[in-house]
Amino acid sequence: MTSFWSTALTQVRPNEIRVRGYDVAELMGSRSFGDVVYLLMSGELPSGREGAMVEAILVAGADHSVAAPSTAAARLVASGGAPLQAAAAAGIIALDAHHGGAMEALACMLQEALGTAAPPGERPGPAPKLPDDEIRRRAAAIVDEALAARRRLPGFGHPVHKRDPRTERLRVLAQEWGLYVPHFRLVDAIGGEMAARGKPAAVNVDGAIAGILSDLRLDWRISRGFYVIARAAGLVAHVYEQSVREKPFKAPSWSEIEYLGPGPRPVPCTDEPGR
Ligand SMILES: CC(C)(COP(=O)(O)OP(=O)(O)OC[C@H]1O[C@@H](n2cnc3c(N)ncnc32)[C@H](O)[C@@H]1OP(=O)(O)O)[C@@H](O)C(=O)NCCC(=O)NCCS
Repeated sequence: MTSFWSTALTQVRPNEIRVRGYDVAELMGSRSFGDVVYLLMSGELPSGREGAMVEAILVAGADHSVAAPSTAAARLVASGGAPLQAAAAAGIIALDAHHGGAMEALACMLQEALGTAAPPGERPGPAPKLPDDEIRRRAAAIVDEALAARRRLPGFGHPVHKRDPRTERLRVLAQEWGLYVPHFRLVDAIGGEMAARGKPAAVNVDGAIAGILSDLRLDWRISRGFYVIARAAGLVAHVYEQSVREKPFKAPSWSEIEYLGPGPRPVPCTDEPGR
């Protein structure tokens, strides 16, 4: 008999829940959320500080105040009266290439550049050990290609931070925990090559996450999911705050809306109404 569904993630039987084979009750209280997110995404529990690194990513992405497209979207939807989960989902929908989703394209580039990319569903290979000048050469090729195509490099630049504090801290942690290996080094080298070409766009949190997750041998196709998980926390808090602290119906004042269409004009007469 063929199954309606098959899954390698979690097995549930009466009075028993096993995530990737591990009893969830045993994981509770002994493993961090970062460990379990890593387990779900990679298939294995961390053997070193991978779970702590994931946890740091989740903290880094948890919130960035109201002036982010996802948060604004969630709060606007909440102000219309939508339920908490619907408003939070509106914020999640807003995460994409320009905000909170740039790590996907960058992680893909990094994994291709280092030859670690794997087919969907398989883990990327371990990164090759490369000397600094080889990392720099590959970074230069990526930057030259992007500049020639007039493309912005995902994972670089930020409307507020010239030095993203989340990136700085993630880099320090990765270095301390022996997880600053070729993909994150390549991200930093790309930043260096951009600066050298007069385009100083610092590595933002998406860029750092792309490097770290690639170094953790996670498929670039799932990288954006880590930001979804992280930012869900902030979005829920914002939606709640919106509903308890602000008046309903959030909208810009009319003075801030500029109309650019034609001026008033008569509707032309027609012999055939509705045509
Ligand atoms: C996030 C982003 C929209 C912020 O943009 P911003 O701070 O408003 O910066 P601007 O759009 O005013 O750009 C300023 C200059 O930096 C350059 N720049 C900014 N980000 C760049 C990038 N990622 N790659 C190449 N050049 C970049 C712009 O081309 C511009 O140069 P110019 O003045 O010569 O045209 C922008 O950096 C970007 O598109 N980054 C890539 C997407 C990304 O990583 N998003 C996640 C954000 S956390």
